[in-house]
This record gives sequence, structure tokens and C-alpha cells, in this order.
Amino acid sequence: MDSDYVDFDDVLPHVGEFGTYHWLLFFGLAPAALNLALIYFVQFFITLQPQHWCAVAVLQDAGLSAEQRRALSVPFTRNSLGAEVQSSCQVYDVDYLGLLQGGVTTANTSWPVRDCHAWEYNISTSGNYHSIVSELNWVCEKEWYATLAQSVFFLGAVFGGLLFGWAADRYGRVPVLVATNLLGGLASLLTALSTSLADFLVYRFVAGMVFDNIFVMMYVLVLEYVGPLHRTLVANLSIALFYMGATVALPWLAIWVGNWRLLTAISAVPMIVSCCAHWILPESARWLLSQGRVKETVKILKTIAHLNGRFIPAKVLDGLETTAQQEAEEATSKQLSASIFDLFKTPRLRRTTIAVSLLWMLLSIVYDGHARNVANLPLDVFVAFTVASATELPADLFLILTLDRWGRRWLAFGTLVFSGFFSILTLAFPDNALAVAVLAILGRFCVNITYNIGLQYAAELLPTVVRAQGVAGVHVAGYLAALLSPAVVYMATINPLIPLVILGVASVAGGCIALLLPETLHRDLPQTIADGEQFGKDQNFCYFPCLVQDKQSTQPLSLGEIGQQPSFIRHRASMRASLRGETYRSSLIRHRPEVIYIPIVDFKMLP
Ligand SMILES: *[C@@H]1O[C@H](CO)[C@@H](O)[C@H](O)[C@H]1NC(C)=O
Ligand SMILES: *[C@@H]1O[C@H](CO)[C@@H](O)[C@H](O)[C@H]1NC(C)=O
Repeated sequence: MDSDYVDFDDVLPHVGEFGTYHWLLFFGLAPAALNLALIYFVQFFITLQPQHWCAVAVLQDAGLSAEQRRALSVPFTRNSLGAEVQSSCQVYDVDYLGLLQGGVTTANTSWPVRDCHAWEYNISTSGNYHSIVSELNWVCEKEWYATLAQSVFFLGAVFGGLLFGWAADRYGRVPVLVATNLLGGLASLLTALSTSLADFLVYRFVAGMVFDNIFVMMYVLVLEYVGPLHRTLVANLSIALFYMGATVALPWLAIWVGNWRLLTAISAVPMIVSCCAHWILPESARWLLSQGRVKETVKILKTIAHLNGRFIPAKVLDGLETTAQQEAEEATSKQLSASIFDLFKTPRLRRTTIAVSLLWMLLSIVYDGHARNVANLPLDVFVAFTVASATELPADLFLILTLDRWGRRWLAFGTLVFSGFFSILTLAFPDNALAVAVLAILGRFCVNITYNIGLQYAAELLPTVVRAQGVAGVHVAGYLAALLSPAVVYMATINPLIPLVILGVASVAGGCIALLLPETLHRDLPQTIADGEQFGKDQNFCYFPCLVQDKQSTQPLSLGEIGQQPSFIRHRASMRASLRGETYRSSLIRHRPEVIYIPIVDFKMLP
């Protein structure tokens, strides 16, 4: 390598790190966040289950009011909390015409009952509109249909995540963004037309396929253009504003529209409109560069610089071109295009990949397990929920203060070990309900922090050329592992402490695995598979960024010096120190715990 080594991060300051163009990207995230909220939450609003009871045609014809009909035909039953409620699925099996003629107005509990085949709904209990559930009578023995659809949606998300993640590394971010929007729009329109369980499942599967990527592509594109100093602002603030805005508005839209088919069809509109991205958005310059498409990169960079009122010196552009060409040649001589399998071909990268997948799997089990285990705690559900929500702010603050100071590795280790410690400590207080509950919540709080670290850590460890598909693969491994958590939680039927002990042991194991990973704080993200293999080779086991940070920033390296070192140990001068920081963390993902809860059809409920 010669001393003109110039890479994308060197050009970014000349393009303008935050100008007009970046405001455009900031607002460009709005439709993406809206589409994400729509594709995921619309399903919730179209499968609401209104209050229902058996319909008796004779009584309706006789002109009785709903109260009168129920008083005569609906038996009582006990709900899961043990309270007496009117049955939603059973009806007295008697001759109603005869009763009416005899002047009987109230039921006799000794009458025989039977399951009913037709229902009446009180739609004012769910937004005053019929959902697909009340339209197709997915109640009582068919109640699990809606849950099944949710599982199928996530199954689609697993397939789509892998497929589109791969496609984005291979064909670019913009084509995948357009494809996911088109497919999402189409799936929503078709969902609006579905008339049976089978259609609905197929269309929800397709909708599931684009879930995440319909947003993540835009998010990655924006992050790849924004300078480190403004990354937190652009990424997190825009998501907070637009995603929250969309989710807050959606329920009211549902009520205002008042028709599940229309609502689903309307949700397709922004997705289809978003396909215009094809003509408006430039491809990610970082990605183009990684593909060796330097001419296109330079053209895009010049346009952006122009928009931002800046000028890129010819020397810098020339340097970028030479560097990129060299790297592209190196890359093509070694491999044509990288795939997820390249992560397993060389020993260090293989170890990192396996370790990060294992870490993520354990994290998923523990995170999901704690969330589910709340029901087993000797604590009022509302209180537990309130306390858990109240811990969110301290968790966020803790991360903001420590993650870019102490690094990912020891922080992940520490939070997991503490989580495990709190969970296992419950063994010391088998009879003290309050202590068990407090310790369980503390354990959950710690693993929550690790979960957020893990999201970012995985994205930082995997090389750019396979980042999208690698992260998708790791997340899929996590989804699969999370399928075990209901089984863990179920062991509470033997002894309520068993789930906590298992979760505790899994946490500590995960903490130890985190120590096998290289630290990513203050490091350039690995670009190629070769970078990934070399990544962290210079760190020893006890490496702790906090202790070495000062030494580095007092000796900023010149551009020339940087160029002479292999890219994986190029420590950049202070301005870029934060680049490695917040890359893939987003409050969106943090505020979306549902993602990890794969709804599992309760097989006891199957007929
Ligand atoms: C329907 O639900 C509303 C709101 O919960 C309630 O006020 C009303 O009495 C219910 N109507 C019937 C017929 O049960
Ligand atoms: C864990 O994080 C989720 C969001 O990611 C939040 O809703 C939940 O309240 C948190 N739980 C605890 C115990 O901090």
C-alpha cells in the first residue's frame, strides 16, 4: 500500500458530514419507519377479538335485546382467573320457542349445554369495527388461527431476513429496499382480500418476509452516509420521532377507518409510494466501493458534496480511486463475492462467528425466558410490568454512559454475569416471595442491557461484505434458540425457582462466551473477509479499551502513517474515535421487544 491510502471515512469530512443532504436522509427515514410500523402492527389491529357469545336465531327473530337473549341462552363458566363469566363458546341446548311461549326470561343452570356454531359480536369492545376474527368466526375452537398467522409471519421474517440480507450485500441496498416495499405493498393488498385461513397465512408469510428489511435497508443506507458525530442524532432521533409517531397514530387510524380490509389496503399505500426510492435515493457509496464500483461512487459523492455546498479536493478523490481499485483487485483475486459461508472458512473468523452466534442464542433464551417468566413471579402482573418499564430509562442511560467508554466485551460479560448472579441468588430465598421477585427483575434488567449491546456487537464484528446476511443469520439462530424458552419457563410447574436457575446458568455461560470475542470499540469495522480474520489479533485477553484509550488519542496518526499499517490496526485520530460507537444500535430495536417473542401456537388448544 502506498501513502495515498484514502478510504471512505477519509472522504466523508470533505463531502460534509451533516448538510442539506443529510436532512433529506433524515426525513427519508420517515416513510421507512412508517412502513415498518404498518407491516408489523396492522396485523394486531385486524385480528382483534371482540367480545362474543353464541347466536340463537330464534331469539333474534323474536326481537329480544342482546341482554335478554344472553340472559336466556348463555351459560356461565369460569375464566382463567377463576371468576364466573358468561360463556363465549357454549349455549343452552333447549327449545327456545317453547320457552318464549311459556314466558321464561332467565336460564336455568340445570339445562343441558352444547358448543355453538354461530356467534354474535359486540364490536364496541374492539374499536367498533369487525376484524377478520369476527368476520370469519376465528373464535373458540378456531381461536388459535390468529396466533398461527402471527407465527407464520415470523417464519416469513426468518426466510426473508436471510434472503434479503444476502441480496443487499450482493445487489445493493436500494434494489432490496424497492423490492421489499413492493412485496410488502402487494402482500398487504392481498391480505385485504383474503377470505380464508389459507390465503391469510400465505399473505402474512409474504408480509413477514419483508419485515425488518423494509426498514433496515433504509437505516443501513443512512448510517453509511452520515458522519460519526451525527449518527446518533440522525439514526436514533429520526426513528424515535417517526416510528413512535406511526405507532401512536395507528390505533386511531384503525378506529377512524373502521374496516379491517380497508385498513390493510391503506397500509399498502406508503409502501407502494416508497418504491419511488429507486429514482430518488442514491445507492450506498460504501457498498458501491466495496464492490469496486469507484466511478459511480465518485459521481454520487460529488453530487452530495454539491448539495451540501462543499467541494472534494481532486487529490482525495484520486486517492480514493486508487485505493478502491487496489482493494477491489485484491478482493477479486481472492474471492468473487463473499457469502455467509466465508465466515466459517478461516479459523479466527470462524471462532468469532460461532461465538457471537452462541452468545446471541443464549441471550435470546435468557431475554425471552425472563420476559415470559414474569407470569411465574409471586407478584401482581401490573406491578411487575410497571417496574420493568420504569427500568428502561436507567438502562438506556447506563448504556449511553458506558458502551463507548468501556467497550462491548467486558460490558457484555459483566452484565450477563450479574444477571446470572441475581437469578441464581434466588436459591438463597426460596420462601421470600418479594426477594425472589426483586432478584428476578434485577436479572432481567441486566440481560436487557446485554441484549442491546449484543445487537450492535454482532453487526460490528462481521465484515462489511457479509454484514447484512451475517447479522440475519445470527438473528435467525437466536429465534430458533428462543423456541426453547417456553420449555424452560414451563419447569416452574416443578419448582418456581428452576427457570431462574437455568436462566442464571445460561447467562453466566453467555458472559464467558463474550470474552472470546474481540473488542470493537475504537476499531475500524472489518471490511473484507480478510479483515475479519485479522480483526482483534493484536488484543490480548485482558484488553480493556478504557485503560489504553488515552495513550492512543495523545498520539494521533498522520494519514501517511495510517496507510502503512494493515487496516485492522489503524487507530484513527480523535475525531473518528466515536465512529465505531453507535453504529447499529437503534432505539427502535430496543423499543420493539415483540420482535423476539415468537408467538408459539399452544398445542393444547388445537382441536
Ligand atoms: C358491548 O360493549 C360495551 C363496551 O364494553 C358495553 O357498554 C355494552 O353494554 C356491550 N353491549 C352488549 C350488548 O353486551
Ligand atoms: C427490557 O427492554 C424492553 C425494551 O427493549 C422494555 O420494554 C422492558 O421494559 C425492559 N425490561 C426491563 C426489565 O428492563
